[in-house]
Amino acid sequence: MAATTPNLASREAMEMKTERAILTSNPKNPPRPRGAAGLHTTAARLRHGNSAAVFFLQWLRAPSRMGAVVPSSRRLADAMARQIPPDARHDAAPIVELGGGTGSITRGILDSGIPPHRLIVLERDPSLADLLAKRFHGVTILCGDARELTALLADRGITRVAAVVSGLPLLLFPDDARRAVVDGCFALLPPGRPLIQFTYGFNAPLPAHEHHLHARRVARVIRNVPPAFVWTFKKAA
Ligand SMILES: C[S@@+](CC[C@H](N)C(=O)[O-])C[C@H]1O[C@@H](n2cnc3c(N)ncnc32)[C@H](O)[C@@H]1O
Repeated sequence: MAATTPNLASREAMEMKTERAILTSNPKNPPRPRGAAGLHTTAARLRHGNSAAVFFLQWLRAPSRMGAVVPSSRRLADAMARQIPPDARHDAAPIVELGGGTGSITRGILDSGIPPHRLIVLERDPSLADLLAKRFHGVTILCGDARELTALLADRGITRVAAVVSGLPLLLFPDDARRAVVDGCFALLPPGRPLIQFTYGFNAPLPAHEHHLHARRVARVIRNVPPAFVWTFKKAA
């Protein structure tokens, strides 16, 4: 699997080094100002470097929108990406990720072999969308609401997608918002192609019967905070 390739190991090491550099003082990191200005500077630095800290700051601002306190783990990202089926991988249509956050799952999708130009990531929070654009060159990052997915893609001439990978906290969405997201996804997905969604509970992250979908719990990831389950949802082929 991709998780064991030397490329990935060296990139992860580099990212950890960058994050450490941001959090520790060194000659390239001048001493931080104190008081409110200091906090502001620290937040600005973190926004550009440390995923866990950026994520936590966003969670403090909008807990129900973030749905988690820390980003998904590498294991969860890999488990999500593995659910993209071979026919979707060889399709010309894009793969869509909903709720990109700081990019954990984006990274997993790319490392699973999806080329950047085939990936579209939708993120509602402008500062996170900005961070994703800085981190993932070649990936199309859209700042917008997942409820508007079909319209956002139609603006770009896209009426079909190969698979949808979602990190949205769907269980926290009001029913009408969840319905709009799921209906939008299945207006774009051909029959048999998956909406891939993770959740922290035992139960399905959406009422499959209500949407006339076939639901399957396909993976359990212990090494995530908290442990998570991966589900796929499909319309009958
Ligand atoms: C649980 S976090 C997942 C982030 C990342 N995919 C991960 O797994 O670490 C949910 C993300 O969905 C975004 N989000 C929430 N509601 C959204 C919506 N209606 N449209 C687009 N993004 C949304 C949040 O801003 C947040 O970045």
